[in-house]
Amino acid sequence: MCGIVGYVGFPNQKDVKEILLSGLEKLEYRGYDSAGIAIYNNGVKVFKDKGRVANLRKIVDNYIPSTLGIGHTRWATHGVPNSINSHPHQSSSGRFTLVHNGVIENEVELRNKYLQDYEFISDTDTEVVVALIETFVEAEEPVDVAIRHVMGLIEGSYALTIIDDQSPATLYAAKSKSPLLIGLGDGFNMVGSDAMSIINYTNQFIELHDEEFIVLTPEDVCIYSILGVKIDRPYYTETLDAADTEKGIYPFYMLKEIDEQPYAIRRIVAKYFTDTGFNINPNIVETLKNTDRIYIVAAGTSMNAGFVGKQLFETISNIPTEVHIASEFVYNTPIISSNPLFIFLSQSGETADSRAVLVKIKSLGYKSLTITNVKSSTLSREADYTLLLHAGVEIAVASTKAYTSQIAVMAILASDQANLDPIGLKKDLALIANVIESITDNKLMYKELADEYLTKRNCFYIGRHIDYYVAIEAALKLKEISYIQTEGFAAGELKHGTIALIEEDTPVIAVISQENINLNTRSNIKEVKSRGAKVIVISLKSISSAKDQIVIDDVNPILSPLVTIVPTQLLAYYAALGRGLDIDKPRNLAKSVTVE
Ligand code: F6R
Repeated sequence: MCGIVGYVGFPNQKDVKEILLSGLEKLEYRGYDSAGIAIYNNGVKVFKDKGRVANLRKIVDNYIPSTLGIGHTRWATHGVPNSINSHPHQSSSGRFTLVHNGVIENEVELRNKYLQDYEFISDTDTEVVVALIETFVEAEEPVDVAIRHVMGLIEGSYALTIIDDQSPATLYAAKSKSPLLIGLGDGFNMVGSDAMSIINYTNQFIELHDEEFIVLTPEDVCIYSILGVKIDRPYYTETLDAADTEKGIYPFYMLKEIDEQPYAIRRIVAKYFTDTGFNINPNIVETLKNTDRIYIVAAGTSMNAGFVGKQLFETISNIPTEVHIASEFVYNTPIISSNPLFIFLSQSGETADSRAVLVKIKSLGYKSLTITNVKSSTLSREADYTLLLHAGVEIAVASTKAYTSQIAVMAILASDQANLDPIGLKKDLALIANVIESITDNKLMYKELADEYLTKRNCFYIGRHIDYYVAIEAALKLKEISYIQTEGFAAGELKHGTIALIEEDTPVIAVISQENINLNTRSNIKEVKSRGAKVIVISLKSISSAKDQIVIDDVNPILSPLVTIVPTQLLAYYAALGRGLDIDKPRNLAKSVTVE
């Protein structure tokens, strides 16, 4: 979703235009449909339009010496993507220029109450914010007071970065719910939606909390509460390597991230095992011991990993586990057991739907654990405990290595609870890393299968037991990047209605990893084949049949999703590649979904 980068520095320090544009490029992975920057140079110059940052580069003046600027990628919520609705937005006098990530839920009320005579240019909720700041400043409020005043009026979410053209050495910012970080430099300071947008310039960061107001100058950073009370917070050093954010030899991040899965699993083994045992925060272990039911709350791919997690916690450690769609939970809350543990699965740690649940369950006094790839993300900071995925930055919108890493971490947690032999699990995971490598080494086969089979408008994935959960995730991967309408079904359920959609050459992909359902799924394959379906079978070697197209070396069957998902990621990738699509940035999607 929207991304923000802002910079203030001493004269002749850095090329502000380039900092903003390259910062926005680093934020492209979040998903957006418009981009813009504002640069101070004897007054504020704004360049913005719908489309990519590459497009914005073409319309920005070549050379603009400057010390102050803000940039934004917009994922439209209010008003179509066009140049007028793109950020930055300016107040009617032009004095204030602002970018915003989030949604102002009470914009209509604010317009009616304070801005009846104001002439709005855009259809955005954001323009209300800049208009209010100007209105309050015109009513003699100092700028900092006016901004905090507006923060107090907003219902919804915001990360704001603001330029006042009367203070060319000051950058203002504010945050509530939407992500924003401070980056500390020598002779400059920055803000960004994530560490990647700033990491090329500094690795020293300060995290921000909700309802905080920030004043940055080239040599100083001041954080205030919404009431104006100064807050001291130490900086931390981010270990992210700038090179991790590059594509290197890969045409798309998604392929790079599929290939990185073996390393991610080996890193998890290194972090979560000692030589002889498990290495998990004892407080988490203890909390889980006293838990009568786990509630996994997540969205999209993370939720699909959650279904596999449910299987792991119930089968391995005998803890009843429910999986909930984050966006449903807050408004349709289930009956909660007497001693629950809420597990938030989230690659980004910023998903607004999940965060809304975290806020709710905290207010009810329940314990929470976030399993995330992003240290110091909102869900990590606000939960009682965190387990990190250590998967390395995931940039492609379609999540791959975070999915397998989430499953690996939950397998370790479940095994620790069950007092299983850590050495056994370590060996299982080491084998899995090797098996994934043998799959990804064989890319040509997946390209050929995708070219031959995935040629229709629709497709079905089927599986039973844990393979059903893989089928759901496989279907999400294929549909989100290739736009082929794909559904994942419990193989036995197809005949209760959906089989009506099977016609000549409809692709059906079956996943078979468990011996006890092998024959059942194979009967379902016969049912669809006899109605014309073209079937691909993905199976584990010991239960494979001669004609199965994708046969994977055996792994511990309960951990099979870690390997059976990989061919489906590659099939999705090559189906999208064959259609000439922008694989890393599928249409309408955002990497970090920071609005509810
Ligand atoms: C799909 C995908 C999304 C995310 C979902 C939750 O490939 O990535 O479905 O899984 O938006 O995001 P996180 O995991 O960041 O909470």
